[in-house]
Amino acid sequence: MADSRIKTLDKHGQEITTVGFDRFGFDSEVPLEGLRALYLRPHYVLKSDSQKSLRDDAEEEEHAKFAAGNNALYQSKSIYHPDTNAISYTTLTRFPPVKLLAPTQRKRILVTGGAGFVGSHLVDRLMLLGHDVTVLDNFFTGSKTTVSHWIGHPNFEMVRHDVVEPFMIECDQIYHLACPASPPHYQYNAVKTVKTSFLGTLNMLGLAKRTKARFLITSTSEVYGDPEVHPQNEDYWGHVNPIGPRACYDEGKRVAETLTYGYMRQDNVQVRVARIFNTYGPRMNPFDGRVVSNFIMQALRGEDLTVYGDGKQTRSFQYIHDLIDGLICLMNSDETRPVNIGNGDEFTIGEFAELVREIVEKVQDEDGVKRTRRSEVVYKPIPTDDPQKRRPDTTRAKESLKWQPRWTVRMGLEEMVRYYKAKMAEGSI
Ligand SMILES: NC(=O)c1ccc[n+]([C@@H]2O[C@H](COP(=O)([O-])OP(=O)(O)OC[C@H]3O[C@@H](n4cnc5c(N)ncnc54)[C@H](O)[C@@H]3O)[C@@H](O)[C@H]2O)c1
Repeated sequence: MADSRIKTLDKHGQEITTVGFDRFGFDSEVPLEGLRALYLRPHYVLKSDSQKSLRDDAEEEEHAKFAAGNNALYQSKSIYHPDTNAISYTTLTRFPPVKLLAPTQRKRILVTGGAGFVGSHLVDRLMLLGHDVTVLDNFFTGSKTTVSHWIGHPNFEMVRHDVVEPFMIECDQIYHLACPASPPHYQYNAVKTVKTSFLGTLNMLGLAKRTKARFLITSTSEVYGDPEVHPQNEDYWGHVNPIGPRACYDEGKRVAETLTYGYMRQDNVQVRVARIFNTYGPRMNPFDGRVVSNFIMQALRGEDLTVYGDGKQTRSFQYIHDLIDGLICLMNSDETRPVNIGNGDEFTIGEFAELVREIVEKVQDEDGVKRTRRSEVVYKPIPTDDPQKRRPDTTRAKESLKWQPRWTVRMGLEEMVRYYKAKMAEGSI
């Protein structure tokens, strides 16, 4: 693994060494340590004058402590120079090895929103699996840095483009993710969010129709609104306020699903609809106001953790690698109905805040970081339309895709804390 301090155990105490699986004729398995090397970049500080000219071999030695196996070769580093308050990033000397697929197995895959949090992890996985991947993104909330380790690779292409405008390409599969996903971002320009959901999906469905590509849209648990049934299964029609501050996103995704099934019924486009529940992991924007990133950043800075409301509202959180497993599985399955993809382990927000604080403290203790004070959990008024309860019923995913989450919230949080901690140390957040 990239950071040898992390040993990942699943719910049954078994070590997780690979993600993905061979299902529906599509082998999506990759070793976790190679994948992790792509997002947990080591950060060094050149400490004193005597170390100013840290020799290359000494640096490699340092680096090897982080990266087990051969992954150090494929991992860039950030090195801080305190004397000049400057940072240098190393470029990769070689790309991580990708599977060599026969031309008949290799797919041309378009990922819209591929520079975002979920998209970049999907791109990593599809690239390691040996496919031709094109990322389409306008960088509204995404960033080139999330996929920069693939730029220049013969199987990879990156296009700056807004999905509200038509786009032509030849492809076999389209993962349509482009859409801001966090409330501050989708509320920043509500009209644009609706346009992205409606026109963006219309354009990508048109492309799927022309190229006969299979089309998967990342819809959301927000289509259920503030649900009256608990947990929510896919047959529940939802309870959404059509004019509230969240409507641009919720209703945008609902109409995107309507369009998707319209193209399926009228034009025989092969469609897949994933309804994603709260997901977290490395590369999530730390300032997007989502509860996981808020809590981790607050705890790492030694600030109090803010809970909105009385903390009794519940949420379930799934780790990014489970979601990517589910998306790839759904794309390659025969399931055309909407499928919930989420982790059903429910926490109250209050309990979750305590858990985040415990894990941040564990990582700080392991790294020998001294805390100046202990973060407290504080309570503030709840925002409008914030759903009280949300938990996925994932029976359909279990039965139809043979998929279920493997990562415990604790294991996922530890990786994410280490990721944010390294980013803070290198000054990039
Ligand atoms: N992360 C979650 O918990 C979650 C939950 C439910 C659904 N989803 C869905 O998953 C998808 C990805 O979410 P994310 O968490 O990675 O969000 P994100 O904001 O990190 O990624 C969205 C990406 O889409 C790009 N984008 C936005 N508008 C665009 C446009 N008009 N044209 C081209 N690119 C555009 C952004 O720049 C960004 O790279 C979204 O469709 C979201 O609705 C995510």
